[in-house]
Amino acid sequence: MRNPLTSAWHNLRYAIDRTFKTGNRRHEFEHKYRKHGDYFGYRTNPYETLKYARTMELMRAWRPSNDSALEIGCSVGVFTAMIAPEFARVVAVDIASEALGLAAKATGHAPNVSYIQSDLVSLNAGQTFEVIFCAEVLMYVPEKQAPEACQVLDRHLAPGGLIIEVTQQDREAGAPKFFHGWDKVLGKYFEVAHREKFDDPDRPYEIVAYRRKAAK
Ligand SMILES: C[S@@+](CC[C@H](N)C(=O)[O-])C[C@H]1O[C@@H](n2cnc3c(N)ncnc32)[C@H](O)[C@@H]1O
Repeated sequence: MRNPLTSAWHNLRYAIDRTFKTGNRRHEFEHKYRKHGDYFGYRTNPYETLKYARTMELMRAWRPSNDSALEIGCSVGVFTAMIAPEFARVVAVDIASEALGLAAKATGHAPNVSYIQSDLVSLNAGQTFEVIFCAEVLMYVPEKQAPEACQVLDRHLAPGGLIIEVTQQDREAGAPKFFHGWDKVLGKYFEVAHREKFDDPDRPYEIVAYRRKAAK
């Protein structure tokens, strides 16, 4: 039985965050998932299905090993369920606990997948990963926190590991709710190992793999 007080709390906090522009997005996502379930349509939208298939294909070609994966912003777990059989260990992270409950169901509670409710910026999973997925999530991190987020990614990346970032390319420049300068920020900490562009007629996107810069 769902607790109506929890919904009211998320709605109130979401309204406060919007009004005072706190930059905290957690309650916005808690509210969206609680009210709509698969809010973004990840289970049904063919555009997303194709993007997942391409990400899987490139991941298989690029990954250094199938030991471990960290997925940041796992949402309702459609992609989590796809990578669960591909790695010995998967940790799925989302800022919204509502998303994690749906993700656990999507994976059929697979025993090799664990879940952490955390903002990327404060994440401490206590382990490193060969592959870190950041699909359509970094733009939610405010610009001033971007360097901290890169340090978190660096701390969680195993030697020789890859960060696979998936991003739509037609985002409105200057849209105040999103930070679109990730290319430059990531470029300070990591280097591009692979890049594929997809000129999807719906919305073009890129799948990019970053690795640590070689020590000089
Ligand atoms: C647009 S969805 C992308 C979902 C998924 N990666 C995909 O491509 O199918 C963004 C997800 O990231 C989560 N999120 C947003 N900001 C976050 C942050 N700072 N740390 C962790 N998760 C975050 C949201 O709750 C949401 O589930």
